[in-house]
Amino acid sequence: MATLWGGRFEKNTDEAVFAFNASISFDKRLLRADIGGSKVHAEMLARQGILTEEEEARIQQGLDAILSDVEEGRLEVSETFEDVHSFVESELTDRIGEPGKKLHTGRSRNDQVALDMKLFTRQEAIELDACVKALMQVIQQISEAHIDTIMPGFTHLQKAQPITLAHHLNAYFEMFKRDRTRLRDLLSHMDTSPLGSGALAGTTYPLDREWTAKALGFAAATANSIDGVSDRDYLIELLSALSIIMMHLSRFCEEMILWNTDEYRFIELDDAFSTGSSIMPQKKNPDIAELVRGKTGRVYGALVSMLVTMKGLPLAYNKDMQEDKEPVFDAIDTTKACLTLFAAMLASTKFNTERMRASASGGFTNATDLADYLVGKGVPFRDAHGIVGQVVLSCIERKKSIEELSLSELRAFSEVIDEDVYDAISLETCVNRRETTGAPGKTAMERALEENRRYLEKD
Ligand code: ARG
Repeated sequence: MATLWGGRFEKNTDEAVFAFNASISFDKRLLRADIGGSKVHAEMLARQGILTEEEEARIQQGLDAILSDVEEGRLEVSETFEDVHSFVESELTDRIGEPGKKLHTGRSRNDQVALDMKLFTRQEAIELDACVKALMQVIQQISEAHIDTIMPGFTHLQKAQPITLAHHLNAYFEMFKRDRTRLRDLLSHMDTSPLGSGALAGTTYPLDREWTAKALGFAAATANSIDGVSDRDYLIELLSALSIIMMHLSRFCEEMILWNTDEYRFIELDDAFSTGSSIMPQKKNPDIAELVRGKTGRVYGALVSMLVTMKGLPLAYNKDMQEDKEPVFDAIDTTKACLTLFAAMLASTKFNTERMRASASGGFTNATDLADYLVGKGVPFRDAHGIVGQVVLSCIERKKSIEELSLSELRAFSEVIDEDVYDAISLETCVNRRETTGAPGKTAMERALEENRRYLEKD
């Protein structure tokens, strides 16, 4: 074990304590961010005359070499160190000697780790945003092909009114669009650099915090050094945004699982995204969709874990905060994998359009339209609702759909019904007369899909 401290200690750390305290097994993932932050810190120290140019040049070369050696497999991050920060400093000092020991001037691991996590989160949020966008592109593509594919829309999981597949999928497009705004909002909330906050109270060196903030791509330096080292809000915001993305994916998966059943048969999942059973030869199971749904709980777990970790912490840094890393890393990896696999699964799914249409024509999805037809003929809506209720009841008894009743059968319920009723309650009419913004009618959907195309081109 190798530590950055020891001067005031008379005994060595107990081995079990060292292992318990160490974070290197997981925070080595921050290596690139850590080195990136250190390079800017060193450059600023030289600009401020705290390091000589020669010292700075050696630090820069040393840090670059460590990063490339690790990333290209020539150097392993040794787990004999407490954390990634200790590893880099020790490796640097081994390589370049004295200047390596000066790198930590005016800095604490508290502002260092706060910076590393922010740099890491920023990069990951950008990548996650791209994954969400890629999924939206798949949704858009399928929607464009299915603007005329009629299916039942549901409430309470009961057939309600006819819609189109494009309309249904477009609801998910909107959800993922909001997810992207959440990721972007979080990026704007975390746009301040904690570097130079020190342990909690800044430093006595003339650091140029504004310069390092700009050099690291932040809008400004954090305004308060205590907040700088103890803020983990952005991680909670990230986990919250990821939880909502997962919730959306999970609802989508739930529908795909249902739609893939023999009872629905709206879709057929591709063989490549299904698995078989060890005992039942006929089975083709939607495991990927189920796993995405299942992993949603894990991402929620990360959010709750982070909220609980932070809730009782006095200012400023406390070691509890080291517990931020594993849930955040896991939630990011899980969400990325789910987004990517789900998009590929969706892209390869076959939609059984005939079956969807047949399902929409059962279950009286045009009952509202018959009521609207009666209203058009002067019947008050409440009366129309009652009349259609009786029509439906009678259809159930006769095992017929509304449009299968003859004109005289229909007129028995209301004299105002005429031959034009059949056109008025056809599925196409039911869908295409719904032309208000956001509705499934063809013109409204074409407008929505055009809007989506512009959105996807723009960002
Ligand atoms: N491994 C620590 C963490 O992730 C780094 C900060 C350590 N700071 C300290 N004062 N012990 O939080």
